[in-house]
Amino acid sequence: MTAYRLALIPGDGIGVDVTHAAMQVLHAAAKDRFTLETTSFPWSCAYYLEHGVMMPADGIETLRNFDAIFLGAVGWPATVPDSVSLHGLLLPIRKAFNQYANIRPHRLLAGVEGPLKATGFDILCIRENTEGEYSGAGGRVHQGRGNEVAVETAIFTREGVERILRFGFEQARARRRHLTSVTKSNAQKFSMVFWDEVTRELSADYPDVTVSHMHIDAMAAKMVMAPQDLDVIVASNLFGDILTDLGAAIQGGLGFAASANINPERDAPSMFEPVHGSAPDIAGHNIANPIAAFWSGAQMLEHLGEAEAAHAVLTAIETATARGIGIRPGLNTTDEITGAVIAALEA
Ligand code: NAD
Ligand code: IPM
Ligand code: MN
Repeated sequence: MTAYRLALIPGDGIGVDVTHAAMQVLHAAAKDRFTLETTSFPWSCAYYLEHGVMMPADGIETLRNFDAIFLGAVGWPATVPDSVSLHGLLLPIRKAFNQYANIRPHRLLAGVEGPLKATGFDILCIRENTEGEYSGAGGRVHQGRGNEVAVETAIFTREGVERILRFGFEQARARRRHLTSVTKSNAQKFSMVFWDEVTRELSADYPDVTVSHMHIDAMAAKMVMAPQDLDVIVASNLFGDILTDLGAAIQGGLGFAASANINPERDAPSMFEPVHGSAPDIAGHNIANPIAAFWSGAQMLEHLGEAEAAHAVLTAIETATARGIGIRPGLNTTDEITGAVIAALEA
């Protein structure tokens, strides 16, 4: 029987609740098909307060030996600044392992009523995940109080832009063959104009895919007004971040939005985590919706080559939601939703 080595990083807040729930579901899905040999790492803001670092110096090298990483959420701004916690754990993992393709699906699960009239949408957001606005380049130029200047440089490389767009084109090919590239090339003169150029250039290699270009502001409106017209969206790191919280909202909330940080070359582990954060406002109350984590777990099983088990998890989630379980905030506890999904898996 295949044994996958899984690194589990529950992290902070509801990250702990939803990964605990998801591991039960994933073990149930594994049944006698395969095993998930899980090693849990306590890296989090609590760990930082004790050790002065979010993860040990050899943390990345430790993770490199695993087949996949499953993460809850990182961040506890009341005690550790986000600029410290996220740049000390989550973001370095994405970058070090070249997890440049962030896949975030947005559709309504069976039984879930989103806030929109439109219900028949099925969007796959492909977010660039290693550079752009998240490059960490820049600095603060002090010119005396009242005159400070802060610079944040977004870096877009040919390699980075081309590989994410190619990834998007391939995804579009496997779906409805429509790719929308999201930029802001009317206001941003360099990076986004370059991105548009690369998109046009690559589109020649994918004549079977219809390409649309949209500005981020127009896309935000489109996702609310006519999401059913969208198929694959490709966006830069920051634009993709913002659009996927919007995507989460139209699919019923952050508790439903899954995310896979993929290294397509498979020369380092990929990481799976819900779109949402640590939700300090609801942490520890057993009310976090774990479905986003379950779905991210299904993405992980798919990536590991366990398509049948991945499919079983998604079917079990939708069996539960179709029965009204977990479809609205406050309706069911985390444990109730988890129990319903496991029952559906084992039925
Ligand atoms: P958040 O996603 O944690 O919460 C936003 C809102 O959505 C809150 O009202 C929360 O209660 C609700 N929510 C989120 N997930 C939910 C779930 N599964 N079920 C029910 N309700 C849910 O965003 P935030 O408040 O901006 O961030 C809190 C912390 O998490 C910050 O430190 C932030 O930097 C961090 N963060 C981490 C990640 C990550 O690790 N991938 C992602 C986003 C935010
Ligand atoms: C996400 C999160 C992270 C991001 C933050 C916590 C750095 O919002 O995964 O969407 O911006 O990528
Ligand atoms: Mn985000």
